[in-house]
Amino acid sequence: MSSQTREQWQSHRGFLLAAVGSAVGLGDIWRFPYVAGANGGGAFLLVYLLVVLLVGVPLLLGEFALGRRMQSESATAVARLLPSSRWRHAGVVGVFAAGLILAYYAVIAGWVFRYAALYIGSPAQALAGGDSAAAFQAYVARPLEPLAWQLLGMALTTAIVCKGVEKGIEKASLWLMPVLALLLTALAVHSATLPGIRQGLRFLFLPDWSLLASPGLYVAALGQAFFSIGLAMGVMVTYGSYQPATRPLPGAALTIALGDTLFGVIAGLVIFPAVFSFGLDPAQGAGLTFVVLPQVFAQMAGGTLFGAAFFLLLSIAALTSMVSLLEVPVAYVMQRWGWSRQRASLRLGGLLFVLGIPASLGFGMWTGLRLPGGRSILDAMDFLAVDLLLPLNGLLLVLLLGWLWPRHEALQAADLQGSRLGRAWHFSLRYLVPLLVMSVLAGSLSRT
Ligand code: TRP
Repeated sequence: MSSQTREQWQSHRGFLLAAVGSAVGLGDIWRFPYVAGANGGGAFLLVYLLVVLLVGVPLLLGEFALGRRMQSESATAVARLLPSSRWRHAGVVGVFAAGLILAYYAVIAGWVFRYAALYIGSPAQALAGGDSAAAFQAYVARPLEPLAWQLLGMALTTAIVCKGVEKGIEKASLWLMPVLALLLTALAVHSATLPGIRQGLRFLFLPDWSLLASPGLYVAALGQAFFSIGLAMGVMVTYGSYQPATRPLPGAALTIALGDTLFGVIAGLVIFPAVFSFGLDPAQGAGLTFVVLPQVFAQMAGGTLFGAAFFLLLSIAALTSMVSLLEVPVAYVMQRWGWSRQRASLRLGGLLFVLGIPASLGFGMWTGLRLPGGRSILDAMDFLAVDLLLPLNGLLLVLLLGWLWPRHEALQAADLQGSRLGRAWHFSLRYLVPLLVMSVLAGSLSRT
C-alpha cells in the first residue's frame, strides 16, 4: 500500500491516452450517435457540450485530484476522506458498479468483435443485404457463438490488466489510441464524400430550438456525459492515483473530456451522412450500429472496407474501456486484500465473464424472460448500473469532494489554489453537480 511501490504511468502522454481510452468506447460510437439522433441532433449536441464543460470537466478533475492525493484506488480514497464514519465503505458501490457494467459491456463488445470478424473474414456474407434486423436478432440468439466472442473480449481485457499499469494499460493505449484516431479520421473523410453529407451535418449541428423545452433532453445529456467520460464510478480516481504529481491536472481533465466529446461528434459525422445517404432513420435507437449501419455498408461503394474499418474501430474503443472498468475492481482487491495483480485480474475477469453470461442468454435461450420494468437481462443490468448506481456513487463522490474535503485541500490537490478557475470549480462541485446528479437520480427512480 505504500506509495513507493504504487504503480505509475510512465509518461504524461500515456496517462492521457489511457484516460481517453477509458472514455472513448461504445459510449461514443454506439451510444452517442443514437442518443443524439433520438433527441433531435443539434439541440442535444448544444446541451451536451454545456453539460460536459460545466459538470463533466469539474467532476473529472475532482476524481483525478482525489486519486492522486490519496494515492489509492477509489473505494479506499473515499474511505480516507471518511475515516471514522459509518459511510466509509460507501465507495465500494462504485467498484461494484464498474464490475457490473463490464459484465454486460463485454456482451455488446462481443457482438462488435463478431461483426468486425465478419466484415474482414467473410465480406460476401456481411454485405449480402437483406433484413439486417432479422440477421442481427438471429445472431444474438445463437447459444454459443456470442459467448465465445464475449469470452475473447474478457480474455484480452484480462491479459492487458494483468500486465499492469505501465506495461499493460499504458502500453496498449499508446498504440491502440492512435490507430483508433486514424481509423475514425479516415472514415470521416470518406463520409464527407457521400451525398447525405449536408443533411447529416444539418442534423448534427443545426439545433431545433423547440426541443430545448423538453426536460428529457437534459437528463439524456447528463446521463450520456457521465457514461461517455466514464465518471462517477471511480475509474478516474483509480487512474488519477497512478499519476505522479508533476503535471497540472486541470489541463488534463479538459483535454480528456473534450477529446472524448470530439470522438463522439466525429463518430456522428461518420454515421449520419451515411444514414441519410441511404434514406434511413437516424433516430432508430440502439439498433443504429448493428441494424442500420449494415444496411448502409451493403449499399455503399467500398462497403466492405468501410464496414471492416468501422467495426475494428469500435472493437478497439470497447477494449480500452473494458480495461479501465476491470482495473477498478482489480485495484480494489489488490489494495484491500493484498492480492497479486495476476490473481486479481484472472479471478475477476473470470467472475465478470460468468456474470455477463445471463445478459447474453437473454437474447437467446432466455429471450422471453422479463425483469421488473419489462426489461431484458442486459437492460436491467444497464439500468441498475448506469441509471441507479452511477448517479448514487456520483452523488457520494461529489458530496465528499465538494463538502467534506476541506476546500483548500481540494483546491491544492487539483492544482487550482488561489485561482478564479478554482472558485468556479469548487462552486460547480459543491452546488451544480450535486443538484444535477440528484435530478438524474430522481428521474431514474421514477422509472424503476
Ligand atoms: N466511457 C466508456 C464508453 O464510452 C465506458 C466506460 C468506461 C464507463 N469507464 C466507465 C462508463 C465508467 C461509466 C463509468 O463506452
